[in-house]
Amino acid sequence: MEKQRENWGSRIGFVLAAAGSAVGLGNIWRFPYLTGENGGSAFILIYLVFVIFIGISVMIAEFTLGRNSGLATVGAIKSYSDRFTFVGAMGVLSAFLIMGFYPVVGGWALAYILESVTGLYSLTPDGIGDTFGAFITGGVQPVVWMLIFLAMNVLIVAKGIKGGIEKAAKVLMPTLFILLIFIAIRSLTLDGAGEGLAFIFRPDFSEVDGGTFLAALGQAFFSLSLGMGAMITYGSYLSKKENLVENAVIVTGLDVGVALLAGIAMFPAIFAFGMEPAQGPGLVFVVIPMVFAEMGGIGALFGIIFFIALAVAALTSSVSLMEVVVSYLIDQRDVQRKKAVYGTGVVMAIMAVLASLSLGVFGPLPVFNVGVFDLFDILSDKVFLGLGGMFIAIVTGWVVDKEVLRKEITNDGTVGFALFEAWHFLIKWIIPLAVAVVAIFGIIDIEETAVMLFGIAIVALLAVFSRKLH
Ligand code: PHE
Repeated sequence: MEKQRENWGSRIGFVLAAAGSAVGLGNIWRFPYLTGENGGSAFILIYLVFVIFIGISVMIAEFTLGRNSGLATVGAIKSYSDRFTFVGAMGVLSAFLIMGFYPVVGGWALAYILESVTGLYSLTPDGIGDTFGAFITGGVQPVVWMLIFLAMNVLIVAKGIKGGIEKAAKVLMPTLFILLIFIAIRSLTLDGAGEGLAFIFRPDFSEVDGGTFLAALGQAFFSLSLGMGAMITYGSYLSKKENLVENAVIVTGLDVGVALLAGIAMFPAIFAFGMEPAQGPGLVFVVIPMVFAEMGGIGALFGIIFFIALAVAALTSSVSLMEVVVSYLIDQRDVQRKKAVYGTGVVMAIMAVLASLSLGVFGPLPVFNVGVFDLFDILSDKVFLGLGGMFIAIVTGWVVDKEVLRKEITNDGTVGFALFEAWHFLIKWIIPLAVAVVAIFGIIDIEETAVMLFGIAIVALLAVFSRKLH
């Protein structure tokens, strides 16, 4: 007998959960520091082009494959062609890789809730910077916070779709929007804010190279939770009545909106305080506290709320990453949900401990020349997500029957999708080609050649043994 698959509780519940998956550290932590490192406006422009011409279409494809098959990543792809099962396996692997570093940053956010009340905002700008550096390289403390963050994931995912993930997303996502708007206003009214706005909005292509395109593509996929089946998995729990295209557009719009808002909240302040925009992963943990320090007494209150909201945004994303692995174990391996969650949690904890320690006690790995944290990061978003997105497009465009797609997307012809033909053409031809070109130029340009080659070797190996995977 066929089991009735659990569904999302409500329309808004799905949108918020999918947006919750998309909106996360990718928007508030990663997008601003990548923008800073890649020269500002040109990076943003390229990223937006990728989001509009690649992101939305791949998201529609992922929702469609998920709902049509009613299965999570591996099962969904395998149900269309076992020659491509490896694409699902890549997704599960990506989930592990991202969860190898994501909880580390989630833990930083948790720690900064506490820092907000213990005098961080009474420090000088240099003091705020040094505090962050000392904290993440400190060893035990960031590891403990990371484990707390991961434990929250385990609790939520163990409760299943409706009870856990959806409820958490409903309350906490709106808080984040409102808060970012507040910070943006404060930041924009600082003396010298204009230069920051110019940095992110005045087009300047002088610093663009192949690496910029790859970084922008990786960021587009990472931020929209695409290329690894998170949206296939969430789509598999989606009711047959929902309008897939509409949902994809709303989720993408919210995600881009939050990223731009985070940029507007941070860059004016960065320039107003005379800071270096290209300072890397510490950016949000240094700039935002500086804005709060500027506010005087009330700053601490803003700080608490901001870092709670950041931790929650991270949490609604990381639960979707964990759900990719868990739903795979449930669908394909007949593991019970609770057991799947605990097992997955333990493996992710080990990976994240290594990643956290790689910022302090452990140095770079031999051969790769980067630490474990960076290894997981580069492998996932510069290799796996992009290639994963390309293969998902290929499966959708070349393997799945076009009429099956049309029926699924239009809910058996009951809702319209005027751009169906254009979407199909993009998915079948343009997106695979575009991703391939960006990947090739990016690979040529990137410094971490050993990491890239290692990642590509794994993908090739999985592809060769695709039919044996299950
Ligand atoms: N989109 C999430 C973020 O921006 C990260 C994520 C990537 C979640 C891939 C799920 C899948 O933080």
